[in-house]
Amino acid sequence: MIVFGILPSFTGRVKADTFALGAVATPFQLSGEHAANNIKVDWSLVAGASSYQIFQSSNAESGFRHTATVPGNTFDDYGLRVGETYYYQVQAFASNGTALGQSTEASAATFTVEDDYDSYDNTVLETFVPKSNLESGGLYYQYNYESDANGFLQFVQQTSTDGFNFAGNTTVLNRSEVCASVPGGYCILQSTNIVKNPTTGNFVMWAHLENNVDYTLAQVAVAEAVPGQPFTFIGTYQPEGQQSRDLTFFEDVDGSGYLISTANNNQDLNLYLLSSNWTTIISWPAILLAGQSREAPAMVHVDDYYYLFTSNTAGWYPSQGQYISASDLAGPWSESRDIGNTANFGAQSGWIATFGTQMAMMADRWGAEWAPPEESNSQRMLPISFGNGYATYGFYETIKYNVTSGGIVPVQSGKILSIGKPVSDSGLSTDAPGDAVTYAASKANDGIQTDEDNYFKSNFVPFWWQVDLQTNASISQIDMTTNLVKGSETYYGYTIMASWDGSYYIQLVDGSTNTAVGFVSNKISSTYKFRYIKVNVYRVVNVQNGGEADWARGVDEIMVYGTT
Ligand SMILES: *[C@@H]1O[C@H](CO)[C@@H](O)[C@H](O)[C@H]1NC(C)=O
Ligand SMILES: *[C@@H]1O[C@H](CO)[C@@H](O)[C@H](O)[C@H]1NC(C)=O
Ligand SMILES: *[C@@H]1O[C@H](CO)[C@@H](O)[C@H](O)[C@H]1NC(C)=O
Ligand SMILES: *[C@@H]1O[C@H](CO)[C@@H](O)[C@H](O)[C@H]1NC(C)=O
Ligand SMILES: *[C@@H]1O[C@H](CO)[C@@H](O)[C@H](O)[C@H]1NC(C)=O
Ligand SMILES: *[C@@H]1O[C@H](CO)[C@@H](O)[C@H](O)[C@H]1NC(C)=O
Repeated sequence: MIVFGILPSFTGRVKADTFALGAVATPFQLSGEHAANNIKVDWSLVAGASSYQIFQSSNAESGFRHTATVPGNTFDDYGLRVGETYYYQVQAFASNGTALGQSTEASAATFTVEDDYDSYDNTVLETFVPKSNLESGGLYYQYNYESDANGFLQFVQQTSTDGFNFAGNTTVLNRSEVCASVPGGYCILQSTNIVKNPTTGNFVMWAHLENNVDYTLAQVAVAEAVPGQPFTFIGTYQPEGQQSRDLTFFEDVDGSGYLISTANNNQDLNLYLLSSNWTTIISWPAILLAGQSREAPAMVHVDDYYYLFTSNTAGWYPSQGQYISASDLAGPWSESRDIGNTANFGAQSGWIATFGTQMAMMADRWGAEWAPPEESNSQRMLPISFGNGYATYGFYETIKYNVTSGGIVPVQSGKILSIGKPVSDSGLSTDAPGDAVTYAASKANDGIQTDEDNYFKSNFVPFWWQVDLQTNASISQIDMTTNLVKGSETYYGYTIMASWDGSYYIQLVDGSTNTAVGFVSNKISSTYKFRYIKVNVYRVVNVQNGGEADWARGVDEIMVYGTT
């Protein structure tokens, strides 16, 4: 679907003439350079737009000037002066030249990147362990969930003086307490949130409780502890008589606590206000995303807006992430907008890590649950940018972060070389009249990654697609996002070839045994420079049953990174 955000307020320098689209700007570093002197501009798609013009201004040069025209909703501004703020506005145009809308103003400052960062590699199976936020009297706490064949066994408390390295094992809550109300006396806990209440100084646990057989109880479980002491189990129940499964805790800026929990057979998300000690539900102010079957809720408050990120209910497989925003928790909330990309970069919307004032989506890649499985589950760190109710996150090869000082720097392996460049293919779809236009080869390199209907569709499988970079380039990375049909998710067997003259090709990637669904990212290192990048797709396989699913074929985006 094509979405555009009609934002409730507009504070740009230039007043929007039709409506304002959301836009954000994100500073980033190019691999091997010493400054975050590049800015990525992202904005909401506009229905009917065929091109977008980007206008840039800086402190040094007053006034906006046209800097680029692009087919999609992303633009990289490279090689900027360091230590300067840049401002951007975007205008959307129909193919007949009619202006369709103008963005809010987005800005970002470039900066020198110091050496004191840890680094997170998004191309391997990494897991991010944050510093514990359960601190009391200089001691940090964590609680390990232990289970056996009959489900939940106990929570074991460990302590730390630095928030990272934990030791000591003390059982602080056990099965006979937590599962007492469940017939048979066995239960499981999921979505466990343990938080410190600023008023009482106590730790409060909220979790989703089920018996150890099925998901029919749909209850919350709540417990409270004086830090360092065993938990007192308070009870399990359905809040306001509503089913409650996947849940998250949210602390508002004024210290109020909320639970956000899936209800109504996982179709709705209910928002519950907690008492000031956070142990009791006192009201039910809103139903969010009614009937939309979203899960994995994660809420943050940034500037004057609340943002709620959610995942599709798509089992363990990657799915399009979405978010809603509002200036008041009780609403009105925006429509649910797509974010990231159609495959959420090979993961599902998850929890949000905070680094000072900056945040990253820690998207869950449940690879160990896939068929065939990956070695382990992992997470992708996707830096989030926010602006006036609009949000975006992107995929970078590496993220630099500092848990102490709070910084975060996205590092891109190279410049994006593929967007808007000439393409060719082995034959376009003739499934339906108009397919050759609707699913043209150029849909795979227009930079549009959040529109599930915007993809290149070949006439058959196997097929090939090629982009002409129009110049020789050193290639650092090639990412491919493929069409996902919920319930029939697919993986692609493919190879990537490259050529400097269009006749002699060298193989850069052998993806013939790939089984990753929806999104693949390939690091490239070759001593040669190339002008043509050709992707050959040999098979499209339904991961749910292992059968061919050529009917689901489609390439949302192929992104080629490198230096010219
Ligand atoms: C130009 O295209 C837009 C969007 O498709 C349409 O609404 C408008 O009527 C067109 N204007 C003219 C003059 O054709
Ligand atoms: C993070 O920032 C702090 C304070 O500026 C600094 O001392 C530290 O070396 C940095 N690096 C890491 C990895 O924490
Ligand atoms: C504490 O428990 C963990 C598993 O939860 C175990 O690996 C570790 O050996 C235990 N440590 C001690 C000191 O018992
Ligand atoms: C569980 O905890 C309760 C309360 O602390 C205690 O009385 C009971 O002995 C514990 N049960 C087990 C099996 O440890
Ligand atoms: C927490 O607050 C609720 C509602 O005000 C109250 O009923 C409950 O007794 C409090 N719990 C504790 C342990 O003070
Ligand atoms: C492109 O690179 C290839 C391989 O390095 C080289 O042979 C060729 O001459 C280059 N072409 C141009 C136009 O620079």
